[in-house]
Amino acid sequence: MERPGTRQVDLGDGRALVVRPMAPGDVDGLVELYAGLSDEDRYRRFFSAYRPDRAFFERAVAVWSRGGAGLVAVEVDTTRPDRPELRIVGEASYELLPSGDGELGMAVAADRRGWLGPYLLDALLEVAASRGVPNLRADVLATNAPMLALLRSRGHAYLPTSDWVSLRLVIGTRGDTPVWSGGPGGGLRRRGRLLVEAPGGRWHGTEEAREAGFDVVTCAGPRAGRRGCPALAGRPCPLVEGADAVVVSRAPDDERWRALVDAHAELHPGVPVCIEPREGPAGPETLTVAILDRVTAALAAAGHPPARDEDGGEREPRRDE
Ligand SMILES: CC(C)(COP(=O)(O)OP(=O)(O)OC[C@H]1O[C@@H](n2cnc3c(N)ncnc32)[C@H](O)[C@@H]1OP(=O)(O)O)[C@@H](O)C(=O)NCCC(=O)NCCS
Repeated sequence: MERPGTRQVDLGDGRALVVRPMAPGDVDGLVELYAGLSDEDRYRRFFSAYRPDRAFFERAVAVWSRGGAGLVAVEVDTTRPDRPELRIVGEASYELLPSGDGELGMAVAADRRGWLGPYLLDALLEVAASRGVPNLRADVLATNAPMLALLRSRGHAYLPTSDWVSLRLVIGTRGDTPVWSGGPGGGLRRRGRLLVEAPGGRWHGTEEAREAGFDVVTCAGPRAGRRGCPALAGRPCPLVEGADAVVVSRAPDDERWRALVDAHAELHPGVPVCIEPREGPAGPETLTVAILDRVTAALAAAGHPPARDEDGGEREPRRDE
């Protein structure tokens, strides 16, 4: 049986493209691939003008020994019986994170873009799934339109980041959506889990919610990318099923958002849905405090143990109305 992730396409013109596991002999080919990338491409890959040296690729090809996985896309000469490899035209790999997810990085030679990115990513997702890795995540510059388009064409969600120049996207290795991963506590669930539906996938209250003891994953609601939102298609969403509460934040007053709220209530009756108004009486912080109080009260009403804040203290709803 073929190894997960390996595949081959005939390119016509006496060449084929082979996707196979990265191996120690690939260092030279990877050096060459990255030497051919533009400064902008390298900036997108490394968030800096970093020019990776040989030692970087020697470490990269050893990714399997660290529990991760790496694939290369190689052009092969099919006119010769020994089918020699001509050059590496793409690479995709993930490093294993403490949460059990994989941290994704990839690059494709400029003259092979357009289809190879999705092809390689699918192959890597297959490998990750076969090794029990539930999600791949990537930090992507907000200006990196191609990589964002690539990830958003899969079922995706957003994880918190500490800056506004990058987005942390997570995609599932099986099915339509990512799932909640173990987290730093190895799945001990010290915190409550909030799934936030917010236009654009950014929630102003993320930091405060985390300080209050919640893990936060954000979805862009009905505009959840090409695959769409499973709940709107009538299918239960694993992210909502694994959440303690859903917050629908400042949703535009339109039919699709109302349908989303109804779908969550119907498909996931055990998970409270709290709606955050579009405009608050004061600034966003007041709005967040109010919504977190509502979430905490809803969880208490559902008999859920209170979320614990960073110091392990229980979060109580305010009683100062
Ligand atoms: C990210 C990368 C691997 C994607 O490879 P690719 O999928 O083969 O090819 P492309 O770059 O042609 O395009 C990917 C998608 O972005 C879209 N896209 C390309 N340029 C775009 C732009 N300027 N604005 C918006 N979308 C754009 C394409 O239409 C395509 O979307 P589609 O599948 O919906 O048609 C490749 O662009 C790359 O190597 N970039 C440099 C390194 C990098 O950024 N790595 C990611 C950081 S981990």
